[in-house]
Amino acid sequence: MNIDIVSILPGLVQGFFQDSIMKRALDAGHVTINYHNPRDYATDKHKQADDYQFGGGAGMVLKPEPLASLLDDLLSKKKYDEVIYMTPEGETLNQKTVNRYSGCKNIIIICGHYKGIDQRIRDLYVTKEISIGDYVLSGGEPAAAIFCDAVIRLIPGVLNNETSALTDSFQDDLLAPPVYTRPADFRGHKVPEVLLSGNFKRIEDWRYEKALENTKKRRPDLLKDNNKNNK
Ligand code: ADE
Repeated sequence: MNIDIVSILPGLVQGFFQDSIMKRALDAGHVTINYHNPRDYATDKHKQADDYQFGGGAGMVLKPEPLASLLDDLLSKKKYDEVIYMTPEGETLNQKTVNRYSGCKNIIIICGHYKGIDQRIRDLYVTKEISIGDYVLSGGEPAAAIFCDAVIRLIPGVLNNETSALTDSFQDDLLAPPVYTRPADFRGHKVPEVLLSGNFKRIEDWRYEKALENTKKRRPDLLKDNNKNNK
């Protein structure tokens, strides 16, 4: 997968990929991430990529011309599955959409800053608007990093058996069951006996029951449309 990130502050995203699973995914070539700064496409001598809003109001808006030149440049070189704009007004991200994006070959992610980007870029170039939740960040960069992490870890080969995504929360419309590690007795609090039994069928059944219990208690909304788990 190739991801082109458009941002006036690329450092805010880059740091996210310097460790652990994301770094390994990049090093192994499962994904390439390229950063593009609209400032490099600004033609005035100050390289201005943002400007005041028409009609007044606090906050700057990313100007259309540098963004359009940048996007024209990218779109002329590759065929993209989606041009995504990170915004709290977009569709809220969930595991189903993340699964779908993990099958993409090329995507562009635009990060707004301050008040966002000129509406005409949204109308003319953006094919999908994504939010990571009902709250407002200072910019789209942390949202882009979160989106990329959720998508990249699902690319085949990125996770090994130990970190397999198949047992993640949400993968089966269920939250994950509790997990334990050594010691089996921590200050008198014991690990459930079944996990020490070596009986994989019993362990599987226990995990499913606990996942269901967890979901019913914390996120009953997940079970509403889920006939499989609604016994
Ligand atoms: N930019 C600012 N806030 C955001 C959010 N909640 N989701 C995606 N992009 C954003």
